Amino acid sequence: MGQSTSGNSSSNYTTKPAAPARPNPDDYESYVRWEGGKFAEGRFRYAIKGTWIRPRSKEGQHCVVKHSKASYTWKQTDWDTTVKIYKEAEELAKGFNTFSGTDRPVHFTEVVVVKCLYRKDPSNPSGPRLNEYCTTEDYLYGNFKKWVNNYGVCSDEALNTATTMPAFMHWSWYHTGGEKMIADLQGVRSDKAYTLTDPVILSLSGGYGATDMGVEGMAIFFLFHKCNSFCEKLPKPSVNDFKSQIPQAELRSCMQLVASVRQATTYTCELRLSVQVRVQLVARFRAIASK
Ligand SMILES: Nc1ncnc2c1ncn2[C@@H]1O[C@H](COP(=O)(O)OP(=O)(O)O)[C@@H](O)[C@H]1O
Ligand SMILES: [Mg+2]
Ligand SMILES: [Zn+2]
Repeated sequence: MGQSTSGNSSSNYTTKPAAPARPNPDDYESYVRWEGGKFAEGRFRYAIKGTWIRPRSKEGQHCVVKHSKASYTWKQTDWDTTVKIYKEAEELAKGFNTFSGTDRPVHFTEVVVVKCLYRKDPSNPSGPRLNEYCTTEDYLYGNFKKWVNNYGVCSDEALNTATTMPAFMHWSWYHTGGEKMIADLQGVRSDKAYTLTDPVILSLSGGYGATDMGVEGMAIFFLFHKCNSFCEKLPKPSVNDFKSQIPQAELRSCMQLVASVRQATTYTCELRLSVQVRVQLVARFRAIASK
């Protein structure tokens, strides 16, 4: 369990590593505690409900500790892309709130990386290992929903009543000169705000991790996007125009994929257009976004 620190290779018996002493929360800027296992999971991470101990301003409030499903995370830097996405998403949200003047502003939860320093029961196979890095954010109360996935496919609610979500995506694309688009919009909506978590950034640079569907995600979004009052004045690629740039066979597989991704989950690179088509599409989208 965890990481063995004493490696006495000459002994022919193993001693149980001493349980680590319970850390002192005052030694840390952020400190959380949890009991029990996951209450939810996404495609990549398990989510466990816990409690903030530090900072003092959050003491006693609930948090969510998320750890990787696929493997253990032994390096703090493995979460760098995740942290970068959450931060950029919040910057974009601030910009969108100002632009739209919406009375239900959009926010993202702040994320901090924490290390598992103590386990009451190290032999329990579930949960983060000792010394494993996890992310932590505020627990969102309310009806958790996913309005858009990372292909930019919107739920019926996003198309009809939660129209702030697609408008935010359209605006994020225009605001970044077509370089990026916010996606995978999920969280809770109250009368006062949307509080979102676990965003995805689609980018032309491809620098936003495994969920970055790039221009393919942007194209799928625009294939179906109908502007609403928030975004109707923004430039937008005309579907007939860019659709003709995609060969029939590729467009067909796009459509098949869209039909199969109506389910609200997060996808990794299951679809890429051919390089030639992608280059054309990128040039076209960039030109429109810089209008
Ligand atoms: N901050 C939160 N508050 C409450 N529930 C959450 C929160 N974040 C995630 N969840 C729940 O956990 C699930 C998985 O979290 P998510 O961040 O989407 O994982 P992944 O990185 O695998 O996509 C979500 O679908 C949701 O049900
Ligand atoms: Mg998710
Ligand atoms: Zn629009």
